[in-house]
Amino acid sequence: MSVSRFLGIDLGTSGVKALVVDENGRLLKQATAEYPLLVPRPLWSEQRPEDWWNGVLQVLGELDEPNPEAIGVTGQMHGSVFLDANDESIRPALLWNDQRTAAECAEIDARFGPENVRRVTCNPPLTGFQAPKILWLRNHEPDAFARLRTVLLPKDFVRLKLTGEKATDVSDASGTGVFQVAGRRWATELLAALDLPTSLFPKSFESWEVTGKTKGVPGLADGIPVVAGGGDQAAAAVGTGAVKPGVVSVSLGTSGVVFVALEEPRFHPQGAAHTFCHANGAWHAMGVMLSCGGALRWYRDTLGGGQTYDELTQKAETAPPGCDGLTFLPYLTGERCPHNDPLARGGFLGLTLAHTEGHLARAVFEGISFGLVDGMALLRELGARVKEIRVTSGGAKSGFWVQLLADAFEAPCHTLELDEGPALGAAILAGVGVGLWPNVPSACEAVVRRRATTEPSGTSYADAYRRYRAAYPATKGLA
Ligand code: XUL
Repeated sequence: MSVSRFLGIDLGTSGVKALVVDENGRLLKQATAEYPLLVPRPLWSEQRPEDWWNGVLQVLGELDEPNPEAIGVTGQMHGSVFLDANDESIRPALLWNDQRTAAECAEIDARFGPENVRRVTCNPPLTGFQAPKILWLRNHEPDAFARLRTVLLPKDFVRLKLTGEKATDVSDASGTGVFQVAGRRWATELLAALDLPTSLFPKSFESWEVTGKTKGVPGLADGIPVVAGGGDQAAAAVGTGAVKPGVVSVSLGTSGVVFVALEEPRFHPQGAAHTFCHANGAWHAMGVMLSCGGALRWYRDTLGGGQTYDELTQKAETAPPGCDGLTFLPYLTGERCPHNDPLARGGFLGLTLAHTEGHLARAVFEGISFGLVDGMALLRELGARVKEIRVTSGGAKSGFWVQLLADAFEAPCHTLELDEGPALGAAILAGVGVGLWPNVPSACEAVVRRRATTEPSGTSYADAYRRYRAAYPATKGLA
């Protein structure tokens, strides 16, 4: 019996991942390829779009799946791919974790008025978002800006290469900072105030809509429909089933994200969480911490002396909960939620001679988990219900970490049978796009299954979390 096969492509920060699933959501194959991250100055973060495309060609070659029924694309959000009149990239793209644009965020508020920006985009202007990056190009590289004809989000550059079409989806467009989130359209009034032509931006689609068909791509037949897809967080939420209110997904990737679907576009009173269009046709809110798994990787590669994550976890388990007063602040690339402070810094606080390597390792796990507790609090502050927590991405494989989270959240945490992140969500959206399922929630019902549930153990982190909360304001501005 022939089965339908769907291809999902996730253009991540460390590399690209592509997978093929069947109509029951069974994983048939997958491939990954890495590419470099460029850090030309502290707090800058760039990648070459050409490296992304070479990575995509490599995984397509490895997958050897020339004829999937449909393709979905997803990837790191917020980045700026600057294209000239020939659709050639003008300079490396600025990424989601690039922190150079604080002055341009202030410029956006000054030109349109802070209240108007928040009313129209549902968010404050943030250094990671795409729009301030365009203003940065105009302010700092005017020759490059003069050649600029199109700005794309990272995954939409891949779409352009796959289909020749310029398009985006509403979830990723929401993270540009110039999208009218409630109306699901470009914020033309804000763009006019910023003196940016609307023609710079591609047409926006709902995530499951077909935006074009493959043409001339090595490793793929011509004529395969490519759906709009989503930003990696919205696509990951499709992969975890966080498409109906009450289901919260906690994603433990390089960044750490606490995500909930919303029926209407409510936003956080201080703008401390993001409110974006969701890939299900409605909206979502999320708290994004910039260094989650990224902080753990930093620890592994520096103080951890290159041990494996398993070895680090075993060390961490030798220290008691609360780490005998040791606190780790995970703000290694500044912080977005809840502090919106590009200059926030990480640190260990409260060291004594009694602290061991195990304490240091455990403090890192606890600090990043407390950052996620902060994210959960933001969602509650904007009025979201939290009925069920699903933990996903790389860190969800660690039983120790999932237990720590269940204790820190004081709520059960579920893991999933197929934990393939945004690429899975993109493949599901492709299936919806060609009519395999009538809509995104029913696709999730058919495909997403829970694997295990971790109940809180009774260990309390209340004191340690209080210390963590006090540490950021007490050290702000010191470094
Ligand atoms: C979400 C965000 C990150 C990137 C990288 O707002 O900035 O999660 O999408 O994956």
